[in-house]
Amino acid sequence: MIDINKAIASLNWQKEPRGLYEPIEYALASGGKRLRPTLALTAAELIVNGGLINGDAIEQTLPAALALEVFHNFTLLHDDVMDHADVRRGKETVHVKWNENTAILSGDQMLIEAYKLLSDVPVDKLPKVLKWFNEMATGICEGQQLDVDFEHMSQPSIDDYMHMIELKTSVLLANAMRIGGYIAGANESQQEALYQYGLHIGLAFQIQDDILDVYGDPKTFGKAVGGDICCNKKTILLLTALETADPESKAELLQWLMAKDCNEEKIAAVTEIYNRLGVRASCETVMEEHTSLALAQLDRLPQNDATERLRELAEKLATRKS
Ligand code: IPE
Ligand code: IPE
Ligand code: MG
Ligand code: MG
Ligand code: MG
Repeated sequence: MIDINKAIASLNWQKEPRGLYEPIEYALASGGKRLRPTLALTAAELIVNGGLINGDAIEQTLPAALALEVFHNFTLLHDDVMDHADVRRGKETVHVKWNENTAILSGDQMLIEAYKLLSDVPVDKLPKVLKWFNEMATGICEGQQLDVDFEHMSQPSIDDYMHMIELKTSVLLANAMRIGGYIAGANESQQEALYQYGLHIGLAFQIQDDILDVYGDPKTFGKAVGGDICCNKKTILLLTALETADPESKAELLQWLMAKDCNEEKIAAVTEIYNRLGVRASCETVMEEHTSLALAQLDRLPQNDATERLRELAEKLATRKS
């Protein structure tokens, strides 16, 4: 079995200028769940174990798995600038530890490094992998733009929100599954089931991320709690609150959305409105629906150890604390 942390640690960042490479090393060494490469490798294992396919196919998935993790970390460097986030994985974000220029340029270099890793995908598989990787990368930029646009919109719909998180978060998980499976030899219907599994756990994952941004414990979550409330992010919690609030609570909420400065008082007040309206439970219901849809996809795939691990993962993600 491939040890993804070891594979990431063996990437070499001992290059000059240090100002460019040291933050890359810092970001990649700071941990995280390694969810995307784990999905790619597990999808490959599922396909290999389910057929008479050469076991080398799992090894052959490693460059793409690494590319996905480096790419993900690149998006985080830029996302933390965009979201004014000071803490990630319990440590200072790159733009705080260094500065914004560093987060931009080291982030850019990580994007290039991701494509360098991708160039080691077996040559017969590369055209399709590259096509999917590019579609995914564009999707994430579009999703991130919508996320920022929504900060300044009064009330996008829940459908708009679902579209936005599908782009900013789900397409990466979906493509991790599909790319991993495809390199290992998945046929078209298997590729589709893998993709749909990733898409639905991605939606559930981002809903849980929104919930943890209000209700998480900063120690285990590794990020500051209340950041989304500060930025007026149109999270599923806020949109559900706006849609279901009585006129009084809605007026109160809108008042807080107009507040220029963010402070503990705003975070506490908005959280109190969420509590009063019980929005957390209805968001959890939507999350569970997507977990179920993801699990249903697994029934369309070969059944083995890897399928079982993906089943457990989908269930675990919905109750994760970090
Ligand atoms: C953070 O992703 C960005 C979101 C899509 C919410 P993760 O929560 O997977 O981040 P790490 O890599 O585990 O830190
Ligand atoms: C994650 O959205 C999307 C990307 C990083 C592309 P968030 O902004 O919610 O992620 P966190 O909460 O900062 O990890
Ligand atoms: Mg963010
Ligand atoms: Mg963001
Ligand atoms: Mg978040």
